[in-house]
Amino acid sequence: MLGVSNISKSFGGLRAVSDVNFEVEKSNIHSIIGPNGAGKTTLFNLITGAIPPETGQVKFDQIDITSWTPERLTKLGLVRTFQRTSVFKKLTVLENVSLAIRSRENIGFTAWQPKWREQVVQDEAAEFLSTVGLAGREYVTAAQLAHGLQRALDIAIGLALKPRLILMDEPLAGMSKGDRETIGSLILGLRESMGLTFVVVEHDVGMVMRLSDRITVMQQGAVIADGPPDEIRDNEAVRRAYLKGDFAG
Ligand SMILES: Nc1ncnc2c1ncn2[C@@H]1O[C@H](COP(=O)(O)OP(=O)(O)O)[C@@H](O)[C@H]1O
Ligand SMILES: [Mg+2]
Repeated sequence: MLGVSNISKSFGGLRAVSDVNFEVEKSNIHSIIGPNGAGKTTLFNLITGAIPPETGQVKFDQIDITSWTPERLTKLGLVRTFQRTSVFKKLTVLENVSLAIRSRENIGFTAWQPKWREQVVQDEAAEFLSTVGLAGREYVTAAQLAHGLQRALDIAIGLALKPRLILMDEPLAGMSKGDRETIGSLILGLRESMGLTFVVVEHDVGMVMRLSDRITVMQQGAVIADGPPDEIRDNEAVRRAYLKGDFAG
């Protein structure tokens, strides 16, 4: 579904991403891991058009999407959620998702919206909230949600854009063990129920091993291993890349 070939990007003399190749299959959870500074976020920025690559190509469903704008990619079904949550804290949970639906449908904010249309948007928003386990919390502000539930809201906002593939940069960062479990189960559930494809950068190697169908390991800008979790766990180069050997998970 997603194909990255020979993609590279330097900052000054530093090869942040160096001739990277990998492929993501439909309905897979595909993780990108590697030590800090390995180039994972830069790789995401290259895939999502945030920065242009120096060499290489990105394909989505056979379409060359290299350097497309995020807006255009969203319309095609490739959506990125952010490490820093993209939620509007002062708005209600329902309003947050309604906003995403409005942006998808290019519905403006004039005071003269027909009432029925507002209702259709809100009904759809409520469905996405129910999908991520936020039914019953529509009318609290996002700020009132616990950290883990704010991430669930972030995912509902992503779903409202009708994605086929979701890219997530460290979705579990800064979360309690319980919240990590909740979000991990949510990602697995969405893959099962909607056939969604996920590309996830994540530091929690234990969770990565449990969630992923396939893992690409980066170090110093390059791919050093690519395969299913069992293979990655036993890979010597990968173990060396993680100095503390925290691959027990
Ligand atoms: N905009 C930038 N300007 C200069 N150097 C950058 C920039 N973005 C990232 N880098 C460098 O590129 C390397 C890879 O960074 P990054 O992609 O953020 O790694 P990761 O997400 O794997 O921790 C790092 O050495 C980082 O300092
Ligand atoms: Mg990063």
